[in-house]
Amino acid sequence: MSTYHKTIGITGGAGFIGSHVIRLFVNKYPHYRIVNIDALTYAGNLENLKDVDPLPNYIFEHADICNEEQVAHLFSKYPFDGIIHLAAESHVDRSIMDPLAFIRTNVLGTGVLLNACKKSWKAFANKLFYHISTDEVYGSLGETGFFTETTPYDPRSPYSASKASSDHLVMAYHHTYGLPVVLSNCSNNYGSHHFPEKLIPLMINNIIHNKPLPVYGKGENVRDWLWVEDHARAIDIIFHKGRKGEKYNIGGHNEWKNIDLVMLLCAIMDKKLDRAKGSSAKLITYVKDRAGHDLRYAIDAAKLSTELGWQPSLQFEEGLEKTVDWYLQNQDWVLHVTTGAYQQYYTDQYQKR
Ligand code: NAD
Ligand code: TYD
Repeated sequence: MSTYHKTIGITGGAGFIGSHVIRLFVNKYPHYRIVNIDALTYAGNLENLKDVDPLPNYIFEHADICNEEQVAHLFSKYPFDGIIHLAAESHVDRSIMDPLAFIRTNVLGTGVLLNACKKSWKAFANKLFYHISTDEVYGSLGETGFFTETTPYDPRSPYSASKASSDHLVMAYHHTYGLPVVLSNCSNNYGSHHFPEKLIPLMINNIIHNKPLPVYGKGENVRDWLWVEDHARAIDIIFHKGRKGEKYNIGGHNEWKNIDLVMLLCAIMDKKLDRAKGSSAKLITYVKDRAGHDLRYAIDAAKLSTELGWQPSLQFEEGLEKTVDWYLQNQDWVLHVTTGAYQQYYTDQYQKR
């Protein structure tokens, strides 16, 4: 018999947000057993979790959520009380180049997990499937207004369409089979361990190496940025207190035009790197716009704050400074994740166990 109060499967735990969620849960809940289920794609990196790896309540399982056999095996091995589902293909530009990879992981993979819950959970009491999604399912805003939980879905990229499909599947399993689910849609995250293909880590890295800073179109698109640890805290609160069958928006009330954000980063980095004022901004290069580029995302997180008491904790400038410091101190990590060397190393370590 397990001595743990709960066993929770967290999919995509080796990725950016997943690794922060795992770190929070493993440390905050030593009486929970946390099983990280991850296929270790280019975006998954066990080096993100080397601090929690030795802890007794943390387990890594190398598995593909699209593979029914592998998922069924995990559900027979562990008595999961809950699944927190983050595994996904997550980069819009990649979804434009290779949409089928997104349909496979984000739609089929979510379907496989939902089906495994439906089949293996004999009774649904005290079980929970928590699906992590994005505000991009709501489409694009004009100059004003916010996404609320009742905004109609209007996804416009293969990424957001695949996430919207998975959201609908989650709600369909709730309505049709009574599966206990909860769903959250979050705005753009930033912080440590963010794969350097996304705007903020890409710009930081390019500034360090004096490379051009590719700003799409006129740089006027707006994103609402949230400190990743605040997202992880919201996930903790929603997992424990969210109402079943409900969805919650998560966002920082922190809108930035891309060009203003890149200029701010340039100013921070000039200081950190002891470069002349204005030198990093000279690297800004306007490039061809992203196809179907959504103009603006902005979240109204009132439901989450009034119902469950969550608030973002960090001011953006402070969070950006912390993020820049982390990248400056972890250039080895950037090298590992961009060369793929880490995957071989860590996969070898696990195979030796
Ligand atoms: P990420 O790309 O950094 O990590 C994804 C993780 O999923 C990786 O560890 C990868 O190995 C794993 N994975 C991919 N395919 C898999 C498969 N078939 N089987 C098992 N594991 C697989 O992503 P992220 O930015 O951490 O995003 C995590 C989740 O949060 C995603 O569902 C994303 O849609 C959602 N989200 C992200 C943001 C954001 O700003 N990054 C905002 C809102 C919501
Ligand atoms: P990104 O980090 O890819 O997140 P998302 O597309 O999911 O919001 O991009 C954030 C914004 O930055 C988006 O408007 C596209 C823009 N962008 C650039 O201008 N240049 C870049 O090199 C990248 C990666 C993004």
